[in-house]
Amino acid sequence: MSAVIPTGAARSIGSILIESGRLSSADADRISAHQQQHGLQFGDAAIALRLLTKEDIDFALARQFDYAYLNNQDNSLRAELVAAYKPFSQIGENLRAVRSQLMLRWLNTDPNHKVIAVVSAGKGEGRSFIAANLAIVFAQQGQRTLLVDADLRAAPTKGQHSLFKLSKSIGLSGILADRAGLEAALPVPSLPGLTVLPVGAVPPNPQELLGRPEFRELLAKAAQQFDVIIVDTPAGGDFADAEIIAARAGAALMVARKDQSLMPDVALLARRLQGGGVTLVGSVLNDG
Ligand SMILES: Nc1ncnc2c1ncn2[C@@H]1O[C@H](COP(=O)(O)OP(=O)(O)O)[C@@H](O)[C@H]1O
Ligand SMILES: [Mg+2]
Repeated sequence: MSAVIPTGAARSIGSILIESGRLSSADADRISAHQQQHGLQFGDAAIALRLLTKEDIDFALARQFDYAYLNNQDNSLRAELVAAYKPFSQIGENLRAVRSQLMLRWLNTDPNHKVIAVVSAGKGEGRSFIAANLAIVFAQQGQRTLLVDADLRAAPTKGQHSLFKLSKSIGLSGILADRAGLEAALPVPSLPGLTVLPVGAVPPNPQELLGRPEFRELLAKAAQQFDVIIVDTPAGGDFADAEIIAARAGAALMVARKDQSLMPDVALLARRLQGGGVTLVGSVLNDG
């Protein structure tokens, strides 16, 4: 028996949920009947009948509007990528607010403003987490987004390569050593619009590599192909890498972690960046 679901939007939501196995045809029929009887939206009728949850409706709406969004069973990415798995969570909301701020203060202010470095003073403060999830919300907005992992100091298991479960790539270090071009950046199939350049083999001389003209040229080339470029960095307090990267980017988003980051360290990094001509375009207090 096929479901009879009357109006346009309702038909899509109902059929999306049936196709994805979240709803049976018989239940879809019950929802339609209840919907007509009480003059409700399909989703509201379904929730009133306890046949679907808000999460199911969000899932269907996301599908309907072509919003890149993965369900829990899809383990093509690591669960830390909450913007992909739980776009309607509080953290998803917060990331979209940060996105708006960055658009307003930097990306929309000049066509040459495309690159933002995500920096913080100490280790484990969530730079990689914020950079990855922020890149996802930019891609979800339909922007061609490149996430560059420029933490040439991190253990290979910690970087963007592992968060996005990417296949092997020569990575940023390969490009900086002049052994590859932008083709080393890999599209993320489940998140249309998002491309990630993993870090590649950890080199013995990160700072020297980042200072090379190849890094500037890479960002210039990427700016022709992408609308926004987010760059992950190592801890600013430990090495000068973050300052070099942020100076090339022109702008930085400062991350601090609640109950962990030390304010004098944050202030010192901010001063060093501003001294190097970097515009601080926003800050995130990571309370996760
Ligand atoms: N807001 C958050 N919610 C949940 N987990 C987080 C959050 N921020 C960071 N983490 C986790 O904390 C750990 C350190 O974060 P990471 O982004 O790797 O730090 P950094 O890149 O600054 O060294 C990771 O396991 C990451 O998934
Ligand atoms: Mg990191």
